[in-house]
Amino acid sequence: MRMQGKIAVVTGAASGNGRAIAERLAAEGARVVCADLNETGLAGVTAGITAAGGTADAVTCDVSSPPDVAALFERAAALGGPHALVAQAGAMYENTLEDTTPEAWDWFMSVDVKGTYLCARAAIPLMRALGGGSIVAMSGTYAVHAEPGVAVQCAAKGAIMSLTRAIAVEVGPDNIRANCIAPGYIETPMVRRWADAQPDPARARAEAARMHALRRMGTPAEVAALALFLCSDESSFCTGHAFFVDGGLSAGENAGQHQPTPITSA
Ligand SMILES: NC(=O)c1ccc[n+]([C@@H]2O[C@H](COP(=O)([O-])OP(=O)(O)OC[C@H]3O[C@@H](n4cnc5c(N)ncnc54)[C@H](O)[C@@H]3O)[C@@H](O)[C@H]2O)c1
Repeated sequence: MRMQGKIAVVTGAASGNGRAIAERLAAEGARVVCADLNETGLAGVTAGITAAGGTADAVTCDVSSPPDVAALFERAAALGGPHALVAQAGAMYENTLEDTTPEAWDWFMSVDVKGTYLCARAAIPLMRALGGGSIVAMSGTYAVHAEPGVAVQCAAKGAIMSLTRAIAVEVGPDNIRANCIAPGYIETPMVRRWADAQPDPARARAEAARMHALRRMGTPAEVAALALFLCSDESSFCTGHAFFVDGGLSAGENAGQHQPTPITSA
């Protein structure tokens, strides 16, 4: 039980990666404070954790709202935490830069980047008082690898990667670690919504899978395994870094679609 006796806050816990992370941390003994906009989804996750013998609390929260985030961390503090924060609530937006409106830009950045900042800012003094903690943010391969139509996602995930380093160097002396996860395409409701919106969803899924060296998308459980490592003491000397769980997507151009031709040349 790698999280026994720990309180963990997971944002975006009602669906996809967040749900898998909350369930995995709870299975490892953490009391998980699950935060999300989606009240119905939250109720399902906490009921599932409880049914499996774990402990979880549901807090309805918009991570871009300072009062909501303050209330979330008051709840975590009242429980004696948080020892770990997984700040991973995120939205989806795909459009060219030219067609990305200022309103859409502000909304996306406020959920992804401002939400991460607000949660980390609220967690730090509480973790300091506990003698340390682990902050895990959610970046993505878009921090290092662009595709047409994902400019705001690239900007947000790059900002989260940089913010992670900044947090790590500021709070390292307080024994608080900060790392981020950078997934490739993961089969979550978000990616299903994206594929279903394409003219040929089956082809979109197949092409997305082919971008990875492993020729498939990842699963939320594979993201959760990394989140558990980063939240737990097993990663006690890891801080300030991005950890990729991307099936090799960012390892190379189209992750190995090029067919090698044997050639020797002096
Ligand atoms: N699925 C992927 O391929 C992939 C790849 C890279 C990064 N990510 C990141 O992983 C994270 C989770 O994505 P997912 O694929 O599980 O998506 P998802 O849509 O399945 O889940 C996202 C959750 O975040 C919640 N949420 C959205 N806005 C919120 C807000 N303002 N306040 C609180 N909760 C909010 C949603 O209600 C939802 O429950 C996101 O940060 C996403 O960018 C996902």
